[in-house]
Amino acid sequence: MRIPQTESIFARMTSLANQEGALNLAQGLMWLPPDPALLEEAARAFSDSTLHQYSLPAGILELREVIASLSERFFGTTYDPASEVTITAGATEALFAAVQALTQPGDEAVFIEPAYDSYLPAFQIGSVRPYAVKLQITSTGIYLPWEEVEKRLSPKTRLLLLNFPHNPTGRTLHEEDLKALERLVELYPQLTLIVDEAYEYMQWHPNFEVIEALPPVSVRQSPLLRERSIIIGSLGKIVGATGWRLGYALAPAPLSKALRAVHQFITFCAATPLQFTLARYLGTSPDKVLYFHAALLERRKIFVEHLRTLTHLEVLPPEGGYFVLVRPPSTNLPDTTLAEELTRKAKVASIPLSPFYGEGVNTGWLRLCFARPIEMLIQAAEQLGRVYPAGPPSVHPTE
Ligand SMILES: Cc1ncc(COP(=O)(O)O)c(C=O)c1O
Repeated sequence: MRIPQTESIFARMTSLANQEGALNLAQGLMWLPPDPALLEEAARAFSDSTLHQYSLPAGILELREVIASLSERFFGTTYDPASEVTITAGATEALFAAVQALTQPGDEAVFIEPAYDSYLPAFQIGSVRPYAVKLQITSTGIYLPWEEVEKRLSPKTRLLLLNFPHNPTGRTLHEEDLKALERLVELYPQLTLIVDEAYEYMQWHPNFEVIEALPPVSVRQSPLLRERSIIIGSLGKIVGATGWRLGYALAPAPLSKALRAVHQFITFCAATPLQFTLARYLGTSPDKVLYFHAALLERRKIFVEHLRTLTHLEVLPPEGGYFVLVRPPSTNLPDTTLAEELTRKAKVASIPLSPFYGEGVNTGWLRLCFARPIEMLIQAAEQLGRVYPAGPPSVHPTE
């Protein structure tokens, strides 16, 4: 088992931001306050002396029912709350439990890089052999190389781990991805998909002017893929309370049973009063899952427009999630150096993409989180504009 012992890039960039007095667009945290109605519900739950003991390991039935009804309402896909929905301590625990539940040491797994940082350790702890396939990130769009994925699959591949909307690129699920996945699960009957949908409701219309919610899409909408997938969600992301550590897994009963068997020995159950809080809050109206939608859309538009007018950075607006990728043209500097230089010179902290890869990759792209106050985003674009002013780039300012 080889788990990295080094400080994570998120911790490193945050301490550099603090040291430099820089605007912190590095951490993937919501800086917008949660709905006051959610906090009132939490206060009620915590003052009820009957809600403070263990829940069933699968989670309280009321919350499982609410999650099943949200899946039905937004994706048209049903799950049985009794046997197909499991509440976990965040998406992170659900991912970890799913990997351990479905693999034996020596099994193989394929995943996509850049990758969220808990995937590789989950494979390593389970002694699973991971194979990474690289997403193609270009100035015109982000492509999933399905032929490469197919080349990596073998009869020993037990898992294909995917993430839509994708962190850090914001790539959402496209029609052609569904087709490719349906073909792959038919070719490999032993293969199960783990689909990390931590940003499931944050899917944006490509036109910046449209502010209505775009119907979210999910792998679960294919009846074939629904049967072959564990879908993972993050309640913390949905309600903007990631510190509460609540997530869930949706899967056909046999897969859920296997996952629950592991989950009961990791956390036993998620925090009971918070489960009641979420069940009651989300139970008042399904649209609660879209509470941040308008605020995030507005921020995406304002931030991208300011970056485009004030800087000559290449900008990739996301299809989903709350990150924008930017890249200074004409530089060969490692993106980690670039991110540090930017924190010092522009006083804007970002996350370089290379730590989302195994080793030796320099994409040049930096991730900026726009779940921040609008004034902070405008300020950040102005500060970036001083280092990378609008107009054709000349000599790279940090070289
Ligand atoms: C892609 C992705 N998956 C999972 C998580 C973790 O979610 P949770 O906080 O619910 O464990 C994150 C958090 O940033 C994420 O970006």
